[in-house]
Amino acid sequence: MDVDSSIVKKVEKLCTEIDEHNHRYYVQDQPSIADAEYDRLLRQLEQLEATHPELIVATSPTQRVGAKPDNGFAEVSHELPMLSLGNAFEDEEVREFHARVVNRLEIEQIEYAVEPKLDGLAISLLYEGGKLIRGATRGDGYTGEDVTLNVRAIRSVPLQLRTSTPPPRIEIRGEVVMPKAGFDALNRNQTDIGGKLYVNPRNAAAGSLRQLDPAISATRPLEFYAYSAGITEGVDLPPTHSGVLDYFESLGLRVTQNRSVVIGAEALIKAYEVMGESRDSLSYEIDGIVYKVNLITLQERLGFVSRAPRWALARKFPAQEEMTIVESIDVQVGRTGAITPVARLKPVFVGGVTVSNATLHNHTEIQRLDVRVGDTVIVRRAGDVIPEVVSVVIDQRNTNSQPYDFPTLCPVCESDIVYEDQGIIGRCSGGLFCQAQVKESIKHFVSRKAMDIEGLGSKVVDVLVDDGLIKNAGDIFSITHEQFAALDRMAEKSAQNLIDSIEKSKRTTLPRFLFGLGIPQIGETTAGQLANSFGDLESIRLATEEDLQAVPDIGPIVAKNVSEFFAQKHNQEVIEKLLEAGITWPDVEVAEQDGELSGKTIVLTGTFSSLGRTEAKEKLAALGAKVTSSVSKKTDLVIAGSEPGSKVDKAEKLGVLVVGEVELLEYLS
Ligand code: IVH
Repeated sequence: MDVDSSIVKKVEKLCTEIDEHNHRYYVQDQPSIADAEYDRLLRQLEQLEATHPELIVATSPTQRVGAKPDNGFAEVSHELPMLSLGNAFEDEEVREFHARVVNRLEIEQIEYAVEPKLDGLAISLLYEGGKLIRGATRGDGYTGEDVTLNVRAIRSVPLQLRTSTPPPRIEIRGEVVMPKAGFDALNRNQTDIGGKLYVNPRNAAAGSLRQLDPAISATRPLEFYAYSAGITEGVDLPPTHSGVLDYFESLGLRVTQNRSVVIGAEALIKAYEVMGESRDSLSYEIDGIVYKVNLITLQERLGFVSRAPRWALARKFPAQEEMTIVESIDVQVGRTGAITPVARLKPVFVGGVTVSNATLHNHTEIQRLDVRVGDTVIVRRAGDVIPEVVSVVIDQRNTNSQPYDFPTLCPVCESDIVYEDQGIIGRCSGGLFCQAQVKESIKHFVSRKAMDIEGLGSKVVDVLVDDGLIKNAGDIFSITHEQFAALDRMAEKSAQNLIDSIEKSKRTTLPRFLFGLGIPQIGETTAGQLANSFGDLESIRLATEEDLQAVPDIGPIVAKNVSEFFAQKHNQEVIEKLLEAGITWPDVEVAEQDGELSGKTIVLTGTFSSLGRTEAKEKLAALGAKVTSSVSKKTDLVIAGSEPGSKVDKAEKLGVLVVGEVELLEYLS
C-alpha cells in the first residue's frame, strides 16, 4: 500500500527543515532555533521514519550515524592524486616562489588567494547528483581509506548539496579539524573515563575520524573545511580559486572565513604576518598560511613539479614544540613570594625564538610530569605564552636519574616555604625580609604599565637592592646622579637618562600608581576601576571592605586584600615617602554610577581617526565602563575602528554588538 502523500511531503519537509538548521548551526555558526525545538523536529522525523521505513533516504538527517563495518576501511584510489604543498619558512623563500611564478608565466602582476593552513587531515568528498557518496582519506596521495561512514557523521559535511542544480559529479577536498575547545573538552572527558589523551587537535582529529565505529566518530567535535576541487564532471567551476571557494560555500560547505586575495610578494609576506596575529583567536589550529595563484588557467599553465603544485606554497609558522634537555631546575621567587620552578634548558629554537628557560608552574606540576635534571623534554612556546615543559621523553631518560626534590626553604632568604591552595602554590613566608620579594615588587613598580621608568631595568634594580641603596619603591626617588654613575657598567649618559626618566615618571595617573603598589590581585583594570569609583587615593585608603565591594568586579577577597594592604604600617610609610618625593596625578572624575556605559564590558579594536586607543580607553573607563582586551561571551560591546581584525569576527560569532567610531564619539560626548 502506498504511503499517504501527505506523509511523504511531511517527511520531505522535515528533512529540508532540519538540514537548514544543521547548515545554520554547523556551517554558518548562526543557529536560528533553540536546541529543544531542533530536537523536537528530529524526533518527529524519527517517528515518521520508524512507522514508514520505506521513506528513509540516505541523505536524511537521521541517517548520519551508520553501523560499524565488518572489515575495517576499504581502499580508495584517487582518480586525481591528492598532492602536498611546497613549504617555506622565510620571507626570502616566499619572494623566490613569486619570482618563479612570474618568470614562468611572464606576467608581472600575480593575484594570489591566501588562506590558513589548517592543521588537521586531508579528506576527499565525492558528490554525485548532489549526494555524498564517498569520503576518503588522503593516504599516500594515491590510495586512501574509505571513511564514508565517519565523514557522514560530521555535521558540517552536507549529505546533500544545497542547490537545485547539483553538478553530476564533483569531488570536494578539504581538511577535517577538531576545534581547540572541542579538543580540550575531549581530553577532559578522556581523563574522566580513564581513556587515552590526545597530544594535539590534529592527532585527535585523525584518531576520531579513523574510529572503526562511526558512532564514536559522531560524538567527536569534528569540522570539515573545503579548500579545493578534485575531479569534476558536467560543471564549469568559477575561473578563480577564490570563486571556487565561494561556490563551495553556496553549496552548503564550510570554508574558512580568514581568506583574502592579494597581489605580489610583499602582500604575501604581510598576509603571513596578519595570519600570525589572528592565529590565537581562531577556533581551530593552523600551522601556517597557504598561497595559491588565484586564476585557475594560470594554475594549469604552471602545473606540478614532483608531488607539489608550482602554483601554491605553504608558509609555515615556526614549530611550537621542540625537544631539548633540562640542564637544571631552579625556583624563582615572585613579588608576592610565590615560588615558581623553572627548567633551565639547553637553548632551543622554538615558536620563533631561542628558549633557555621554561616554566614548570608549581611543584604539583613537577610531580605530574616527573621532570628530572638531565631529562629530554618537549618544550612548547605558543604565541606570547611563556614557554613551558609539556612532557618528558621517558625512553631517553638516564637510568640513574633522580626525582626532583622541591625545596622547603626559600632559596633567597631561607624562610620556610608554605603551601596554599590545597598545597599547589608554594610561597616564601619571608615577606619584605626576602630580598627576592623586595626586588620583584620594585621591578613591578617601575614597569611599563605602572610608573614606566625607562632604563630602570631588572638588572639595575637587582644591583640597587644588593648594594643596599634602596629597600623599597619609596627609595628610588632619592638616589642621586652620583650614586647611579658609580654603579658597575653605568655610563655617565645612562645615569643622567635614568635621573631624567625618574623625574618624568613623577607625573603619572592614579590608576598607574595604584597598580604599581602591587596590591595582591589588583591588575591594571581593577586599579582603573578603583580610581574611577573613588576619585582619589585618600578615599581608597579609608574605604571599608564594604565600600570596596561596591566597585565592579571587586569581591570580598580582593576587598580584603586592598584594605589589608593600606592598613599595613610599612605600606603606609612607602606611600608617604612616594608622595613626599613629588608624585602627582591629575584629578580623576568619579565615574557615573548609572550612565549608559556604567558596568559595561567593552573591547576596542582597530584604529580610530579622532583619538588614540589609550585615550578612548581612559575616557570610557571614566564613564564607568570596563575596557578589556579580548572578546568573550561576557563582552557587552565591541567598538571597532578601521582595520579591526579578528575581534569583530569573534564578536559577530558570539552575537556581541559591534559599533564604530561614530557611536564611540557619541558615547564620549
Ligand atoms: S591545498 C595541491 N589548502 O596541507 C594542493 N591544503 O601539504 C593541495 N592543508 O595534505 C592542498 N590547509 O591537508 C590546501 N588551505 C589549504 C590547506 C591545505 C591545510 C593541508 C592538506 C595537505 C597539506 C599539504
